Amino acid sequence: MRHLLTILDLEREEIEGLIERARRLKEDLKRGISHTPLSGKTLALIFDKPSTRTRVSFEVAMHHLGGDTIFISPKDSQLGRGEPIKDTARVLSRYVDGVVIRTFGHNLIEEFARYSSVPVINGLTDLFHPCQVLSDLLTIRERKGDPGRLKIVWIGDGNNVAHSWINASARLGFPLYMATPEGYRPSEEVVERARMEGAEIFWTDDPEEAVRDADVINTDVWVSMGQDEERKRRLEAFRGYTVDEGLLKRAKDDCIFLHCLPAHRGEEVTEGVIEGGHSVVWDQAENRLHLQKALLERLLKA
Ligand code: CP
Ligand code: NVA
Repeated sequence: MRHLLTILDLEREEIEGLIERARRLKEDLKRGISHTPLSGKTLALIFDKPSTRTRVSFEVAMHHLGGDTIFISPKDSQLGRGEPIKDTARVLSRYVDGVVIRTFGHNLIEEFARYSSVPVINGLTDLFHPCQVLSDLLTIRERKGDPGRLKIVWIGDGNNVAHSWINASARLGFPLYMATPEGYRPSEEVVERARMEGAEIFWTDDPEEAVRDADVINTDVWVSMGQDEERKRRLEAFRGYTVDEGLLKRAKDDCIFLHCLPAHRGEEVTEGVIEGGHSVVWDQAENRLHLQKALLERLLKA
């Protein structure tokens, strides 16, 4: 792995290795043991969309590892005035040791990576959110063990986070059960590619059917960043897809509820579920830090 643009950039063993390393780094942090292998290194973060978790966890991760960060908002840099991505990528490669990018079109990060001589990490595009799902796999591993033995369910929009789950199914070989409304299914191209790589995807438009005996229930917002104009239409289309107490009752008694956050209570999830005993969303958010430390160490260590 030179860049992390999608989970398909990783082999199964690499994913397992990142999860194991993240667990160790987490334990060491709690015991006060520090690791600073990235001393003298700098990570740039170019964020074209808002972020709380991804930005802060990458910045803190880099500081824990002894390195520095520079946050670049496209509107305050020449990118916002039309400087070509390929020029920016080559210039930044002369200054920094790695770049995290959050942007709209996945083609933009692919172009950046083509011209960058330092590792590029996808901090979310319209198509994928690989760092989110890698750390969610850590949360599942901690709480439930091997994902291959679990029923993992996605309810709601077939969006960027869902696409990364589909890729994770390909790499780790677990079946993924999805319930999305017709018209909001995941991209056929993403599903086909992942199936060729071994993903097992079961789709239904009935959330009740999907969650039967589930070990893990996952959801995300119905209106992702950049889709605000579609809000009214989407809220209509997703009616009946709220993860509520009734839906949870159909899953296993000890099922866990995951949400990458930010959450919209009363839309994709009820207050009772996100604040209830099955929800692990705060541990899930914390794990972004530990997994990304493992990732940065892996990509940026000389
Ligand atoms: N889950 C996640 O990526 O959150 P942010 O948008 O706050 O980074
Ligand atoms: N699907 C959401 C994820 C936010 C972390 C979005 O793209 O806005």
